[in-house]
Parts: sequence; C-alpha cells; structure tokens
Amino acid sequence: MRWTPLVPLFCTILAVAGPAHGPEEKPPDPGLKVFQDSCLDCHKGQQSIDQVRLTREKWKEVIDRMVESGFMDPVPSKEKLKQLLDYLAQTRGAAEPRKPG
Ligand code: HEC
Repeated sequence: MRWTPLVPLFCTILAVAGPAHGPEEKPPDPGLKVFQDSCLDCHKGQQSIDQVRLTREKWKEVIDRMVESGFMDPVPSKEKLKQLLDYLAQTRGAAEPRKPG
C-alpha cells in the first residue's frame, strides 16, 4: 500500500481543481432576470442593447419610456423595475455627465 500517504494529497488536488464554488461566486442578480424576461424579447440580435451605456438617470428614463410605450407586457412590479434599474446602472453604467463649470 505504498500509495496510501498520497491519497489525502490526491483528494486535495481534486477539491482545488473541482468546479469553482468559491466565495467569489455571486448569487444571480434579480435585475438580470427581469432584464431577460422583460427586455430581451425585443432587444436581441440586431436590436441588442448590449453596447448601450447610460447613466442611472437615463436608464430610468428608458425604462419609463418602454413601460409607457406599452412594450412591457406584463409590466413588472415596482420592486422588479427597481432591481432592473440597479442592474442596468451597475452593469451598463456610464459616467455621470460633467456639471457645467
Ligand atoms: C415590445 C418590444 C420591446 C420591449 C419589451 C422593450 N423594448 Fe426597448 N425598444 C423597443 C423599440 C421598438 C425601441 C425603439 C423605439 C424607441 O426608442 O422608443 C426601443 C428602444 C430602446 C432603447 C434605445 C435607446 C433609446 O434611448 O432610444 C433602449 C436602451 C431600450 N429600448 C431599452 C429597453 C429596456 C431596458 C427594456 C426592458 C425594461 C426594453 N427596452 C423593453 C422595443 C422594446
């Protein structure tokens, strides 16, 4: 049984090399789900908005406009719209415009 002392080492390697379940793994963003459910029906392929970068203010305006245009059916709850705004502002944010002066 010459290999026996190697078994714990081998297990360690397997554990380290295994699928990443580290603390760096974030829970899925609820806003991402709202985005996928409510926006991607239209905004995929040629209409993709993946490259759009806006300030939080502007994202709010866009969401309001999408809702007012009747594009969102059903309209997500206020809570979900807020999660969506957070998600867009965090992942697709732009620098706030400079204040004049
Ligand atoms: C039913 C289809 C539909 C859905 C759902 C939809 N949109 Fe749109 N969106 C459009 C159309 C059509 C336009 C172009 C006309 C316009 O700008 O009003 C547009 C334009 C946009 C633009 C272009 C930029 C701009 O300011 O004009 C952005 C950004 C955008 N949508 C984001 C979103 C987001 C975020 C959602 C989800 C909350 C969403 N859309 C849901 C159809 C849709």
